[in-house]
Amino acid sequence: MTTYAIIGGTGLTQLDGLTLKQAQNIDTPYGAPSAAVLRGEYAGHEVLFLARHGHPHRIAPHQVNYRANLWALKQAGAEAIFAVNAVGGIHAAMGSGHLCVAHQIIDYTWGRAHTFFDGELEHVTHIDFSFPYDEELRGRLIAALQALGYAHSIHGVYGATQGPRLETAAEITRMERDGCDIVGMTGMPEAALARELELPYACLALVVNPAAGKTNGTISMAEIEAELERGIGKVRAVLGHVLGA
Ligand code: HPA
Repeated sequence: MTTYAIIGGTGLTQLDGLTLKQAQNIDTPYGAPSAAVLRGEYAGHEVLFLARHGHPHRIAPHQVNYRANLWALKQAGAEAIFAVNAVGGIHAAMGSGHLCVAHQIIDYTWGRAHTFFDGELEHVTHIDFSFPYDEELRGRLIAALQALGYAHSIHGVYGATQGPRLETAAEITRMERDGCDIVGMTGMPEAALARELELPYACLALVVNPAAGKTNGTISMAEIEAELERGIGKVRAVLGHVLGA
């Protein structure tokens, strides 16, 4: 049976319902991951869990050690990864509370340690990244969303920004012109690093606010937190469905 790992984002620093068997502090050549890798049973299935921002949440998106996180999960035996990301909605279909199984990425991040193929290399490797997410895992997420009847999109272009500030309205207009449907700060380099380690990877994005300029007002953390609280139960249900299936 495949050993799945879940990378929990904002609002999912712990996986309620996980019967914990082991918490592993894993040291990696890239430093320490955001938190201990938890191993347990969820929906009757062995699963690994890692809180991307630490537990409690304390690591900003641009400070996450993505390489250590991915390396630690691989070391712990992960064979496939479901990533959970809170995002802003750009496309009109991506209203707050909407769930999106992203199918493409545009990377606007900079200055992050974004590859394992660094330093003294015996040979240079260029991974294929034409289709950044694994279709089989995407299909599992989509099947769960359909079974549960939650409003969702089966496609979406994830624009990954540097943060930690939110975007300007003009930046969002540009991203929209580029073809982005949702915007978040943690989708990259995580997805590319998973591909470098040959770990199939898919993203379940929860829209927690309209992106900058998409409403008349500004974006408040209180609004984001309230939406997260409303939506995270759906994320848990989807993951439970996927793992239990
Ligand atoms: N922009 C970037 N990242 C985000 C947003 C946003 O509007 N909402 C949640 N994460």
